[in-house]
Amino acid sequence: MSDLARWRERADAALQRALPDPHSPPQRLHAAMRHAVLLGGKRMRPLLVYAAGSAFGASVDTLDAPAVAVELIHAYSLVHDDLPAMDDDALRRGQPTVHVAFDEATAVLAGDALQSLAFEVLADADVDATTRVDLLRTLARASGAAGMCGGQALDLAATGNGSSLSVHALEELHSLKTGALIRAAVRMGALCGGASAEELAALDRYAAALGLAFQVRDDILDIEGDSATLGKTAGKDVAQDKATFPALIGLDASRARLDELRRAMDDALSPLGDRANALAALGRMAIERDR
Ligand code: IPE
Ligand code: IPE
Ligand code: MG
Ligand code: MG
Ligand code: MG
Repeated sequence: MSDLARWRERADAALQRALPDPHSPPQRLHAAMRHAVLLGGKRMRPLLVYAAGSAFGASVDTLDAPAVAVELIHAYSLVHDDLPAMDDDALRRGQPTVHVAFDEATAVLAGDALQSLAFEVLADADVDATTRVDLLRTLARASGAAGMCGGQALDLAATGNGSSLSVHALEELHSLKTGALIRAAVRMGALCGGASAEELAALDRYAAALGLAFQVRDDILDIEGDSATLGKTAGKDVAQDKATFPALIGLDASRARLDELRRAMDDALSPLGDRANALAALGRMAIERDR
């Protein structure tokens, strides 16, 4: 089994353990949390934690907590992203979205509880106290107004007027709403492996390119993909006049931007040599994926 396949299984098992028992009350909230997390998902962010940590010799056991924590934040962000007040989506990971399968109030609470659980898991991470606080700060910053939530606010502000932004402003939006959590995943893995400041900086150049590329690919797939493969509704961005790369610069230029970002990732990883093989594979996956 490849490292990536093993890490994916590991992340799934650790997420199962971290989530509340579906049979204990409040069952409906617990069921909604489990629906949001366990029914599919590529697990890209946990894989980045394992790949970055392993590149610096972190034991796989210590990586479970940050891997779980970042996926819980990501899953919460999807539950809220799909709410009628945001993107109003009915399909996610091939399943009805949480507010459709349950109800809106339960979806709000499930997202809130997943976020809290992420930080509880991280507070129990099996690392020294200084590293633990670094992990908590990294994930908190990446999740909040200076990260994912801030990016989502910019996204909503531009919705309905999607081509009004400059390319620079769109890159900033994407880097926050999607890039911030991806950068946090890579940084948390590397922190567990004791990477130096210089190594952290090189990895952050890789992760910033990957984070932007991941959302550019998401924007392209919204146009070129089909809902069955994506597991979410295709064509939503045009319908809602979202700020996306294809809307602003067209599909060909969006693909060209992906090529530039691929080169930026390779450049950033080259000093790490073979240690970065899994990170490089994840970078290619982000750019080439069809779901
Ligand atoms: C979807 O993320 C939302 C974006 C940030 C583009 P993913 O494409 O990683 O979704 P899952 O986790 O595989 O469902
Ligand atoms: C979502 O971006 C980014 C998040 C922070 C959840 P999108 O709205 O494009 O994600 P999808 O296409 O619904 O997965
Ligand atoms: Mg959105
Ligand atoms: Mg959406
Ligand atoms: Mg999208």
